[in-house]
Amino acid sequence: MTDFHAHILPGADHGSDGMETSLTQLALAEAAGVDTIIATPHYYPQIDRFSDFLALRERTFSELMNRYHGPIRILPAAEVHMCVGLDHLNGIEELCIPGTDVILSELSFRGYAGNMGETFTRMLDDGLFPILAHVDRYSHTLIENYFSLGLYGQVNADALTRHFGRKQLVEWIDEGFVLALGSDIHGTKPGYAPFEKARAFLGERAHVLDQAAARLLSEAKLPG
Ligand SMILES: [Fe+2]
Repeated sequence: MTDFHAHILPGADHGSDGMETSLTQLALAEAAGVDTIIATPHYYPQIDRFSDFLALRERTFSELMNRYHGPIRILPAAEVHMCVGLDHLNGIEELCIPGTDVILSELSFRGYAGNMGETFTRMLDDGLFPILAHVDRYSHTLIENYFSLGLYGQVNADALTRHFGRKQLVEWIDEGFVLALGSDIHGTKPGYAPFEKARAFLGERAHVLDQAAARLLSEAKLPG
């Protein structure tokens, strides 16, 4: 089972304040049955120098790999805060999940969240495969507009533990628009409890998401 969205690299962002926290997060993931984690530290192109982000990710990932010898496969990627023109970033492919064209893309909460259409379209034309992070956080209309452009989404586990709004999320899973489940873990509380609860709620659909995530990681092609 894959956790598609997690802040577990020690000191890479506010998700983990250091090695002990990261190792605890991984122990919790193991106990929940997770076998693959996409490590997605925040990247804010408006704030962070790209080279600094890449260097910090590389350093924190290798520090973690030197200490963690458990069974979970960890893939260093990013949660990329979208901005207009991001497709022009030289080396943008470094933000993809390794070996894929998949790029976890976070929409802003501000008004310009809906202005990314042309940027996303150019990313798709360039062969990138943006997945919208935590589609549960935005208006349904906004997200469905992006789905109609050819984008897909990731859902956060905690949104599936609440009654309010989850019917829509299940529909998107059933329609094939939501392809991945993520813990979006920050720190060690509540750890992987929402992830396990969400999977219990999803039942067979959790396996459908596992298969979709596995396809994304192995082929990184648009489904269907
Ligand atoms: Fe996140």
